[in-house]
Amino acid sequence: MPRGFPFWAILSSLSGPIRGPRLPPPEPNPRRTAPVFELSARGMTSRRAADLAPSLIRDIANAGIGRRDVIPLWFGEGCWPSPDIAVEAARRALADGDHFYQPNSGKTELREELSAYHRRIYDVEIDPRRITVTASGMQALALVAQALIDPGDRAVIIGPVWPNIRETLRISGAFVIEHALRPASGRWSLDVGRLIDDIGENTRLVFINSPANPTGWTATPDELDAVIEHCRRNKVWLVADDAYSRLCYGRRYAPCALTRTEPDDLVISVSTFSKAWSMTGWRLGWITAPAELEAPLAMLTEYNIAGAPGFVQAAGIAALRDGEPDVALLQQRLAALRPLAGEHLAGVPGVRYLEPEGAFYSFFGVDGMTDSVATAKHILATCGVGLAPGRAFGPHGEGHLRLCFAQPPETLTTALERLADYFDATAAGG
Ligand SMILES: Cc1ncc(COP(=O)(O)O)c(C=O)c1O
Repeated sequence: MPRGFPFWAILSSLSGPIRGPRLPPPEPNPRRTAPVFELSARGMTSRRAADLAPSLIRDIANAGIGRRDVIPLWFGEGCWPSPDIAVEAARRALADGDHFYQPNSGKTELREELSAYHRRIYDVEIDPRRITVTASGMQALALVAQALIDPGDRAVIIGPVWPNIRETLRISGAFVIEHALRPASGRWSLDVGRLIDDIGENTRLVFINSPANPTGWTATPDELDAVIEHCRRNKVWLVADDAYSRLCYGRRYAPCALTRTEPDDLVISVSTFSKAWSMTGWRLGWITAPAELEAPLAMLTEYNIAGAPGFVQAAGIAALRDGEPDVALLQQRLAALRPLAGEHLAGVPGVRYLEPEGAFYSFFGVDGMTDSVATAKHILATCGVGLAPGRAFGPHGEGHLRLCFAQPPETLTTALERLADYFDATAAGG
């Protein structure tokens, strides 16, 4: 996109003639075989609600939560608590009376702190007005989908993919095209040419989650540049999910679109305090967008949640200001844990293991496994290890299982030994 791209042009790209005709509404959700709710079956809910697919990750977790013998590796979170400084800041904010509504875009102090964080860590200047504070990364994704998508718009995503990304786009009415990563030369890899071919005339957005959940695939700078250039030329939004940006190996952060684009490019980054600061339960995230989206995102925030909680934002400010040692400690822990999965699983007959380049998941293939949900349930019942089934991550995920390795080494080793025994026995016909 040319420098100084004016807002009217962004608006016209939102609704104007440069896009082709709308596609028909999405096909019924392939992951849902029957209406989940009785009311939906009777036609008494919206089509959106009727079309929702249950999270298959939750499905397994619900079967095992509360069982003391189970090692839970199903969700994307570690076992370590949030930074003390965040807990203390929230406590102080509550004691000091931070009990009230907040500005829709977030506390000014937090937006400024996020801007300073981007300068310090990514060496990129972000005007605080470009930042919208959200009540989680998940909510950031939902707001971005609401801001960009009209029913029938095409959204190109890369799979296997965290199910919430696909579903939130679908809830907004997107026609989702899923482009597959493939294992090649010992890593998950992206065919950028084919991805670009998928970005058709009436594509509204391309979604890149890098490092990716569940594969750990991490876009190279060249891959990002090729997609950015194509999006610029075709006036297509690039939505970058940078939730795992700091969970990478041998570097401070993974290659990221924000550092390779201009403030007025059609680029939006979505991020969260959940992963790098181990704050999953706090529900705090943020969006970085062109300045012209500040007002629409503030309105969408108003009508969705009317602002993230103040004392939680206070914790976020403290985490940004003084939490870098906590991020570094998590990075060290993960760097020590990542090889354990390979050591235990790489040589097991029938297991196809690829070392993740980022995030904290092992997403491994199992020869001959056609029903990952049934296998994950069987592993839960027989080994007491809770995994996420590959099918949860879309059609390209079946045949795989995901484990989150953010656990103490002894716990992870026990889980991996049980899994290795399970697959050994399966391969031996047991
Ligand atoms: C790829 C990706 N994006 C965003 C999120 C959102 O995280 P949260 O809603 O906890 O902020 C997650 C959480 O697992 C994720 O895996």
